[in-house]
Amino acid sequence: MSDDNQLSLFGNAERSQPQPLPNAEKERIPQDGAVPIPPGTYTAIDELVPHCQTCHRCELGNTRTNAVVGRGNPKAPIVLIGEGPGENEDKTGQPFVGKAGQLLEKILASVELTAERDIYICNVVKCRPPKNRTPTAEEMKACLPYLKEQIRLVDPEIILLTGATAVKAVTGDKRGITKIRGQWIEWEGRRCMPIFHPAYLLRNPSRDKGSPKWLMWQDIQKVRSTLDELQG
Ligand code: URA
Repeated sequence: MSDDNQLSLFGNAERSQPQPLPNAEKERIPQDGAVPIPPGTYTAIDELVPHCQTCHRCELGNTRTNAVVGRGNPKAPIVLIGEGPGENEDKTGQPFVGKAGQLLEKILASVELTAERDIYICNVVKCRPPKNRTPTAEEMKACLPYLKEQIRLVDPEIILLTGATAVKAVTGDKRGITKIRGQWIEWEGRRCMPIFHPAYLLRNPSRDKGSPKWLMWQDIQKVRSTLDELQG
């Protein structure tokens, strides 16, 4: 399918109508992983911060230093989703500020994208998994409503899913990242692009044709040109 045809798939998407959580229920969110967080619960991203900082919907709340909610433009055309905070992120409360984050900034800058203007950056789980292990299915499930609220509030044109964990957590697609990177996929009426996680690129530094870094360069250019088309 051509890119033009792919883009037309996303035009008339139906999205669920938000039904806010009553205030009394909102009070209980951080303490009870079983309490759902329906769309419409938050009216601004900043409201998530005190909830996430005191959240105990899963065990990660016991070991975090800081919850890491997000950074960048909360009205950006692109939302970028990572897996979860690492050591530097846990210390600072900001996503992607360690080595992987520095590489990510370089990749974005190569096509003139900045977090200040074009991107809102966040993660599947808001608290650091001990020893940077992959978050469990329960942890991702407990945290997913926060991410869905972030996506609803930013309302981006494009979602970048970095690595297989982000793809699986958001879309449920269990395929390996090498199989699906670089192809637009639709999730809840939104245009998503799976890309390699920058930490994977740090472990694979070759820039040769066909290497992960080279493929990332193809993918990020595709994202740039789609954004340009969408923004006219
Ligand atoms: N890796 C991630 O997936 N997210 C971060 O915030 C940092 C590293």
